[in-house]
Amino acid sequence: MARNCRKDRSKALAGSWDKNAGNWARAVRDGLIPSRRAGTDEAIVNAILAHKPARLLDVGCGEGWLIRRVAQSIDCQALSIDGSAALIADARQADPRHAYRVFAYADLIEDAKSLGTGFDAIVFNYAILDEDAARLLTSVEPLLAPEGRIFIQTLHPRALDGPYRDGWRTEDFAAFAGPGWEPMPWYFRTVESWHETLRDAGLVLLDLTEPMADGRPLSLLMTCKSLKR
Ligand SMILES: C[S@@+](CC[C@H](N)C(=O)[O-])C[C@H]1O[C@@H](n2cnc3c(N)ncnc32)[C@H](O)[C@@H]1O
Repeated sequence: MARNCRKDRSKALAGSWDKNAGNWARAVRDGLIPSRRAGTDEAIVNAILAHKPARLLDVGCGEGWLIRRVAQSIDCQALSIDGSAALIADARQADPRHAYRVFAYADLIEDAKSLGTGFDAIVFNYAILDEDAARLLTSVEPLLAPEGRIFIQTLHPRALDGPYRDGWRTEDFAAFAGPGWEPMPWYFRTVESWHETLRDAGLVLLDLTEPMADGRPLSLLMTCKSLKR
């Protein structure tokens, strides 16, 4: 795909979250996303808790539910970042205890270390949506503590209609009740492509699980470590 076209899609992707912030916060907080209720929230929380992180970075945190939930079970120092100022404002309002910062993925690629280092867990919960995921993951690898883990939860590619090959798609949020949603371009990748992406980012896949409900996969949940440590 032409570079400019890819850039336009990335820009539209990030921009859609400014417009969707209010609807998204409501959808998460009112439990309007069936797969989350059916098990994906529990899956990511349990994966993180099993690692007992003292320092946690939530990338693309949205309105911040994950840190609020993890903090119900363990005491940890958490930093959450997101490109949407409105979602970060929502997160701060709901949780004055932890740190939330407006920080775009482009800033992360440019200067990840300004967020600090030594994170025991870095989490991307449905937050890798762009084509160049390897660059994003490469940028956070140096932030990991020696035994640190990266947790990635994403849509299960077999749970979606359409051709089983990498490519840009559009989420129109039609499944969510209510007006005002801005369509979001996002990049679909196969399981094989996820594996390649992790390898290209210098990560080792330690664990891959498929949270299920009613015999259907809800998500892919990957736990990785750095190849260097
Ligand atoms: C599907 S939401 C998931 C939010 C949250 N992790 C959760 O579990 O509810 C994707 C999040 O990624 C963020 N995001 C997407 N592209 C981004 C970018 N380029 N820079 C920063 N944040 C981005 C959006 O603002 C949005 O909050």
